[in-house]
Amino acid sequence: MKRIPLALAAVLLAACHRQPPAAAIPATPTATPAAASAGATAAYAPGQQRRASVEELTALGRALFSEPSLSASGRSSCASCHSPEHAYGPPNRLAAQLGGADGATQGTRAAPSLKYLQTVPPFTEHYHDDDGDDSVDAGPTGGYDWDGRAQSAHEQARGPLLSPREMGNKDDAAVVARLRAGPLAARFRSAFGEAIFDHPDAAMRGVLMALEVFQQSPADFYPYTSKYDAYLRKQAVLTPQEARGLALFNDEHKGNCASCHISKIGQGGAFPQFTDYGLINLGVPRNGRLAVNADPAYFDLGLCGPDRADLRDHREYCGRFRTPSLRNVALRGVYFHNGGFDDLAQVVRFYAQRDSAPQKWYPRNADGGVHKFDDLPAGLEGNVNMEAPFGGRAGGKAALSEREIADVVAFLRTLTDGYDGVKSDIRTRTRP
Ligand code: HEC
Ligand code: HEC
Repeated sequence: MKRIPLALAAVLLAACHRQPPAAAIPATPTATPAAASAGATAAYAPGQQRRASVEELTALGRALFSEPSLSASGRSSCASCHSPEHAYGPPNRLAAQLGGADGATQGTRAAPSLKYLQTVPPFTEHYHDDDGDDSVDAGPTGGYDWDGRAQSAHEQARGPLLSPREMGNKDDAAVVARLRAGPLAARFRSAFGEAIFDHPDAAMRGVLMALEVFQQSPADFYPYTSKYDAYLRKQAVLTPQEARGLALFNDEHKGNCASCHISKIGQGGAFPQFTDYGLINLGVPRNGRLAVNADPAYFDLGLCGPDRADLRDHREYCGRFRTPSLRNVALRGVYFHNGGFDDLAQVVRFYAQRDSAPQKWYPRNADGGVHKFDDLPAGLEGNVNMEAPFGGRAGGKAALSEREIADVVAFLRTLTDGYDGVKSDIRTRTRP
């Protein structure tokens, strides 16, 4: 796979901190008298009489993120599934989190970490790198969610507020009504103006804007404070085991992990995000712990559906999911889009042995043969990626030995933020 450049250099982060992200400012639709009297510009939304500062929006977004009264059950907030203490990933080992109006409806996918999403490019079917050779088509790349279906964090945030499996609101008005009746109403009014709740559309835009601005706050979401970052800055030395793991991670003939999970400093000094954002089919085994999978005819095929409908005819895309960042991966309790693994060494072992020892990972058919790639409908096996570390012969040598697997895991643990006392995750918890 081609590598893509990373837009944001860690060194520039401090400078960016005070700028409102352009995407966070909603476009002004039709002007209303209220907006006109407030002196609306493109940066104002009708009904928002006051333009909140980035600091205010960040603080408000932080509060909204953890506010359970915004959910239909009154029990779940964004933080229930994206826990600040777990790199904004799930706080437990459930394959998928529980939500919905009853607070007990199981989702269909693992909750991802929300850290290091600031450079996710918009989804495109044909990604062309701009690192000097733009002739290579890297294929489907980018977009939010495991299947790349949401184009911005702004668009994305409406999804969980309204999803019947997540916060379970029936529409925007229900979200705004809950906010108005809840503990954050006064704070919301002081950010956007006393009359904000008279304009439910503007109030909803305010909610999405505050959530988006909060999720772009560098100290919380992309601090670059791991041991590996310190190593890249030449402020830390890897242990011999971590260094062996890094070499295996990068080696094209061994782990080859860095071909998708980029590990090197990019053009212009941008620190690596440990993903190239490509959507790839790894042939992850079916997870029987997901309730939806009780139906043998149900398949979560990512890019070709069922959660996105625009590429259903592209059978060659079935089973592709966006390559996640591996930053903070050691803090996760579950792995892959279906939460089918709960141990990091097992994930690396799967990469090393998927093709050399498939009987370890997949069930048997009635005839005793191994049902490889059992989470894909018959006939789509050819969609699965076969590049190193995959592609070995059944019964052949594993791509990585047990000792090498342990080395790679030791390296992955250097990607956890908060190395050497810089505990950004803990700081977020104690802020108002
Ligand atoms: C019940 C659990 C749950 C709740 C509550 C929840 N999420 Fe999520 N979130 C998920 C899951 C699962 C996904 C992956 C969805 C998919 O791929 O289809 C996700 C995906 C995301 C993504 C995309 C991440 C990526 O890698 O592209 C963002 C951003 C996000 N959520 C933000 C939020 C915000 C903001 C809230 C609160 C308004 C929220 N979530 C509430 C479970 C949850
Ligand atoms: C061909 C591209 C590719 C290569 C090579 C690759 N990965 Fe991945 N990785 C992915 C994709 C895509 C996913 C998500 C797959 C899914 O959930 O269906 C993933 C998921 C993961 C996860 C789970 C993360 C999470 O948040 O759930 C870990 C851990 C991981 N990879 C580590 C590695 C390691 C270690 C290597 C090398 C041994 C490696 N990857 C090689 C593309 C790749």
